[in-house]
Amino acid sequence: MKCSLFVALSLALAASARPQYFSRRADFTLQNGKDAIALNDKFKTLTANSPCQAGEDACVNDQFAQCVNGKFVTQSCGSGLVCAALPLVNSAGTSITCTTAADRDARIAATGATSGSSSSGSSVAAASSTAASKTTSSAVASSTASTAAGDNSATGSATNSSDAQSSLTLLNSVIATGFANDGQDQPEAGQVASATSTNNFINFCATVPNLKITNGLQITQGSCNPAPMGVIASTANMPSCKFVNPKNGDKVPANQNFTIQMAIKNLNTGFFTNPNENYFAAPQTVDSNGNINGHSHVVVEAIPSLDTTTPTDPTKFAFFKGLNDKAQNGILSVEVGGGLPAGVYRLASINSASNHQPALVAIAQHGSLDDMIYFTVA
Ligand SMILES: *[C@@H]1O[C@H](CO)[C@@H](O)[C@H](O)[C@H]1NC(C)=O
Ligand SMILES: *[C@@H]1O[C@H](CO)[C@@H](O)[C@H](O)[C@H]1NC(C)=O
Repeated sequence: MKCSLFVALSLALAASARPQYFSRRADFTLQNGKDAIALNDKFKTLTANSPCQAGEDACVNDQFAQCVNGKFVTQSCGSGLVCAALPLVNSAGTSITCTTAADRDARIAATGATSGSSSSGSSVAAASSTAASKTTSSAVASSTASTAAGDNSATGSATNSSDAQSSLTLLNSVIATGFANDGQDQPEAGQVASATSTNNFINFCATVPNLKITNGLQITQGSCNPAPMGVIASTANMPSCKFVNPKNGDKVPANQNFTIQMAIKNLNTGFFTNPNENYFAAPQTVDSNGNINGHSHVVVEAIPSLDTTTPTDPTKFAFFKGLNDKAQNGILSVEVGGGLPAGVYRLASINSASNHQPALVAIAQHGSLDDMIYFTVA
């Protein structure tokens, strides 16, 4: 993991004819890691009553804190998340956001920064102890569920940790009681009964023992994923994008480099996890503004004509690239090296959370979170 090359790729690497996925660890990376460690150490000394300067963001007791009138106003990060300073990936600096303790530690470790590593450990402990009071007061053991685990049951030894994020016991406080309702009390023609659960479906994958657990891998035969969906973005934070180049209907010269540019809003870009080890492997999270921490992708597919009515084959595409960098002035870009052969093409975005799952938002009825345009190469 400490090597100087990061493989910033997506499932495209194997399939795309144009691998261009390597970037060196930048000069600022180590410093960003050290700065993040120093900030997180400083945050541990803060309380809600610590003096602060207008506009200052910080973490206080694992909560996101903003300075208002010389005092911190804190906001909980939500279950399983802690507030942390993280090293920026694509430029010098740090950002303060809500994430998991594991993600914080992995991002800092990836910079190579180690100074303050012992204090980083103690901040994990601090996070655990705040969760502990919840655990002991409201733990419910699900003994029926554990006997049904079958082939997909965890092989690791059970723990009685008081840390809610390593405990194998479901907290009462996170049970979605609405999941026990199949919805048919409000019948609508054709509406089917929802599957129901009183334990958040925690052992759902035991009902499909023929499938592997997704386990961070892109399993081409399909799999069953036990990760919760996580933090759902509010209606004010629904991602949206529009292609700037090429634009819908544009003509692009054949076999010549061109740059795909996409304007994006309400996505905290620059967040992508290892697609070969962390695919769908953690819940969606949002930043302090409520925007999903994530990244986008673009995919170009050859189509027979502009007015084709035949569904496309998602296993085939002419160009695919994860847009892993932070947007510059609201624009994500990628060069299509060598361009494309003459033909008609469809260009689409795939806006995603950090762990590559599609962006999840608060309401069902909304405009498309992605863009799709058609262009001709001649
Ligand atoms: C947790 O495990 C420790 C060590 O095995 C044991 O001493 C303790 O009694 C356990 N606590 C509970 C609540 O089971
Ligand atoms: C074409 O694109 C490739 C890949 O991005 C790049 O290496 C190359 O320098 C570009 N060529 C020109 C003429 O811009």
